[in-house]
Amino acid sequence: MSKISRTTVLGAGAMGHGIAQVFAQAGCDVELYDIDADALSHAKDHINANLLQLMAHSAIARETIPFTLSRIHIEPDFNKAVSKADLIVEAVPERLDLKQEVFTKAEKACSKKAILTSTTSVIRAGDIAKVLEMPQRLVGTHWMNPPFILPLVEIIRAPKTSDAVVNQIKTFLEEECGKRTIICNDTPGFVVNRLAGAVLKEAANLIEEDVATHIEIDRAWKEHLGPVFLQYGPFGNLDYIGLDVVVLAAKYLAWALNDEGYKLPQWLENTVLKGNLGIRTGKGIYEYPDQTPEDLRRKRAEELLVLLQKVGLATVHK
Ligand SMILES: NC(=O)c1ccc[n+]([C@@H]2O[C@H](COP(=O)([O-])OP(=O)(O)OC[C@H]3O[C@@H](n4cnc5c(N)ncnc54)[C@H](O)[C@@H]3O)[C@@H](O)[C@H]2O)c1
Repeated sequence: MSKISRTTVLGAGAMGHGIAQVFAQAGCDVELYDIDADALSHAKDHINANLLQLMAHSAIARETIPFTLSRIHIEPDFNKAVSKADLIVEAVPERLDLKQEVFTKAEKACSKKAILTSTTSVIRAGDIAKVLEMPQRLVGTHWMNPPFILPLVEIIRAPKTSDAVVNQIKTFLEEECGKRTIICNDTPGFVVNRLAGAVLKEAANLIEEDVATHIEIDRAWKEHLGPVFLQYGPFGNLDYIGLDVVVLAAKYLAWALNDEGYKLPQWLENTVLKGNLGIRTGKGIYEYPDQTPEDLRRKRAEELLVLLQKVGLATVHK
C-alpha cells in the first residue's frame, strides 16, 4: 500500500479544520474544502490560533508553524480538492443522507486508490458505505473534539471495510499523526459514544428521580469516577473491587431498582463461579501473574496518589 501524503478534508467546521491541522503537522499536504465560503475563509485563522496555543504550552516549536500552515490549501472547488488525495476525510454535519451525498460525489472524482473516512460520531460506517462502488475502502475514524488535542481516534471497521485499509489508517494515525487508536466493529455510537450515552442516561435518571443535581453528578464524576476510570477503565477497576462484590452489588441494584438492566452479564458471573475474583485471586477480568494482592493494592494506592496529586484532587491530611 502506498504511503499517505496527500490528504483532503471535506468540511472545515469544528472537527474538519482541526483534523486538517493534525495532518499538516504530520507533514502531509492538505486540501481543505467546505461548501460554505465563510467557514473556509476562517479555517486557517482558527488553525493558526490552535498552533499558537500549542506553542504557548511548549507542545510545538514556533519555527514549525509557517511550515504547517503552508501545507494547508484552501480549495473551493470540490473536484480539485479530492482528485489527488490518498486519504479523504469527511467532516460534514451528522446526517446520513448528506454524508452519502458527499461520498458519492467524492468517489466519482477521486483516485481509485484513495482511502475514504468519515468522522461521524454515531452513524454506522456501513450505512454510509452503502452508496459506494468500492465500499471496502471506507473506514470510520471517529476523532475527538478538539482533534489537535485529544489523542484517541476510534477506527470503525464496517462489514465491507478491507483489513488492508484498517491497517493502513491505523499505522498512519499512530505513526504519522501521533494518535492513539482503538479498532471496533460497526455499531451506532461505536465505543466512546455508547459508553458516554450510558453514563448520560443514568445521570439524567438521577436528576429525574431527584437524587442529586447536575452539579453534584458532575462532581462525582470529576472527583472520583473520572480519575479512577482514567487510571484503570471500567473493567480494570472491577478487579480491584473484587468481582464477587461487584456481582452481588449488581444483583442488589437490579432488585432494588426493579431493573434487570443492572444485572451483570453471565460471563462475569461465570468468572466468579470459577473462583476468579480479581486481584485477590491473581485473575479476574485481567491476569496478574507473579504479584501478590498486597503488591497490587500498594501499586494502586501509589498510582492513584500520583494521579490525584497531579490534578489537585488528593486528600488533604491533617
Ligand atoms: N463537534 C464535536 O464535538 C464532534 C466530535 C466528534 C465527531 N464529530 C462529527 O464530526 C462531523 C462534523 O461535525 P462538526 O462539529 O465539525 O460540525 P460543524 O457544523 O462545525 O462543521 C460542519 C461543516 O461542514 C460544512 N458542510 C456542510 N455541508 C457540506 C458539504 N456538502 N460539503 C462540504 N462541507 C459541508 C459546513 O459548512 C460546516 O462548516 C459530524 O459528523 C459530527 O458528528 C463532531
